[in-house]
Amino acid sequence: MTSSHTGLSAIVTGGNSGIGRATAAKLMADGARVLVVDVQSEPTWTAEHLQYYQADVAAEGSPAGIIACALDHFGQLDFLINNAGMVGGSDVERMTDDAWDRILDVNLKAVFKLSRAAIPHLKKSRRGRIVNIGSIMSYLAGPGMGAYTTSKHAVAGLTKTLALELGAFGITANYILPGAIATGITAPAIAADPSFTEFWTKKSAIGRLGQPEDIANAINFLLTAEAAFITAHGLAVDGGVMVNP
Ligand SMILES: NC(=O)c1ccc[n+]([C@@H]2O[C@H](COP(=O)([O-])OP(=O)(O)OC[C@H]3O[C@@H](n4cnc5c(N)ncnc54)[C@H](O)[C@@H]3O)[C@@H](O)[C@H]2O)c1
Repeated sequence: MTSSHTGLSAIVTGGNSGIGRATAAKLMADGARVLVVDVQSEPTWTAEHLQYYQADVAAEGSPAGIIACALDHFGQLDFLINNAGMVGGSDVERMTDDAWDRILDVNLKAVFKLSRAAIPHLKKSRRGRIVNIGSIMSYLAGPGMGAYTTSKHAVAGLTKTLALELGAFGITANYILPGAIATGITAPAIAADPSFTEFWTKKSAIGRLGQPEDIANAINFLLTAEAAFITAHGLAVDGGVMVNP
């Protein structure tokens, strides 16, 4: 299926690596202009229609700065991809307040705050779209992953709410549930422990880890005009692992 985002503009958070980078590249290949936001001080890549904005999405003032930068460069905002995220923490008994707060601030509160700042501009778009990156942990749970699991479950609830509030303006809001994807987040586990890749490969009906492009392609579809009636949906892009207990 072909799609075209010519004349449309996007914000992709966490776009310096992994899923965010593949997504920004895909959107630009289909004609969008993209503001990549990342906490890293320098962009890891460049492209003709890419602008870079360095920010911690959870920092005070980041949402206003990110939106202002997008409007300065593009004059409009059509797609918001809330992708930046982090893992960490411990089991609940040993979880510190700081670890809990940081994971919830980055994975959830920043999604709320940037969405809130983007809404007035998405309402002016002819094709407003929000895609939030959840996880299979938006549905499943794992010991030692309480803060991450809580944040990703909440991203699902927030996305459904956004869909209901914004549908009247032609804006869709959906979330993706990636499975085990080979990115910066999983690189340490993949490198340290061969059983990580083995476990997720066996669990997948497709028989491999996901690649960032697998997620980018799904996000890109949700941004198309053809996906206008898909909203409040959680799309698993996991090679089938969630149905394989
Ligand atoms: N890789 C997986 O297996 C997997 C599975 C499920 C969900 N996810 C989700 O996918 C999203 C993207 O992660 P990825 O796998 O591509 O990892 P990644 O580490 O390759 O990319 C994450 C990017 O986000 C940036 N980032 C992190 N914290 C930030 C912050 N506070 N402000 C701005 N930028 C920040 C990082 O610098 C990095 O460039 C995350 O939300 C993650 O939870 C990943």
